[in-house]
Amino acid sequence: MSSVQPIVWKDGRLRLLDQRSLPHAVCWLECTRAEEVAEAIHAMAVRGAPAIGIAAAYGLVLAVRRDPEAFDRAYALLAASRPTAVNLRWALERMRKLWQQTQHVAHLEAEAVRIHDEDLAQNLRIGELGAALLPEQARVLTHCNTGALATGGHGTALGIIRTAHAQSRIAMVYHTETRPWLQGARLTAWELQQEGIASRLIADGAAAHLMAREKIDWVIVGADRIAANGDTANKIGTYALAIAARHHGVRVMVAAPSSTFDLRCASGSEIPIEERPASELTEFRGLAVAPAGSSAFNPVFDVTPATLIDAIVCERGVILAPTADKLARLLAQDATQ
Ligand code: MRU
Repeated sequence: MSSVQPIVWKDGRLRLLDQRSLPHAVCWLECTRAEEVAEAIHAMAVRGAPAIGIAAAYGLVLAVRRDPEAFDRAYALLAASRPTAVNLRWALERMRKLWQQTQHVAHLEAEAVRIHDEDLAQNLRIGELGAALLPEQARVLTHCNTGALATGGHGTALGIIRTAHAQSRIAMVYHTETRPWLQGARLTAWELQQEGIASRLIADGAAAHLMAREKIDWVIVGADRIAANGDTANKIGTYALAIAARHHGVRVMVAAPSSTFDLRCASGSEIPIEERPASELTEFRGLAVAPAGSSAFNPVFDVTPATLIDAIVCERGVILAPTADKLARLLAQDATQ
């Protein structure tokens, strides 16, 4: 298992590995208030769907420890910090239920720790289930960062790659740079390097060319929200990868814990897509890369239709060729375990 731990809760204190400084520097943010946690999520110091849910859960603990009346205000603030990943609302809802039942800070803290620990355990299971779908000497392509940095540990899509690597089943991992935040170039490369996994970075626009020229067995990606019919919101560019993969006969695997499923969204068109400031495209670290006054459209997620997805892997099982019925069956069946 990976030793990277982006969220550390120790002695009632929350420390977040500031992912904006990676890979150049390992800096930590110390959060003592829910407001700071909400800002860290909004500014993407902590990022990745499961990780922001975990951080938000700890944010609620920080809020009620200062003032037990502050729960609803902190909830609203944290819920508004990023719109697409449903794990955030899922974690906050779970904390709200507990708070309504007990009104006890120690119980709330234990629930946040449980959310954190469960995510790691689920990722280890996802790793096993997903790795079993890969051939020997697999050549895979991944997008964004779905590793230990984005989760409670191990990772989802990258967790599958990690598990398969431990089984000596990975020949090569191609990973996109993932503009404009470069989660692939900065973060996935960092994690792959630490694990000694053979990998090559590609520009986002090189993916179709790669599939045309080299054998790629699977595109493996994470998810920020999976609708009831299997449509999947994930980092911008995932949809284009899935289209290119279908054209070239490459299979597409989506890996996510059950906290990423949102049965309240019937299809992907109901998933809110975050748009971030134009400056994230027109500037790079404060330096203009487009003429002054350029306008830009900066959606940071897209929706891949279920028809382009060959497998969804969650800790409860694997769904091949996802449909609404298969999803509902898997989620209902394990909810009773
Ligand atoms: O904007 P980000 O970096 O939070 O986006 C992250 C992704 O899109 C990941 O693929 C997704 O959250 C899954 S992380 C296990």
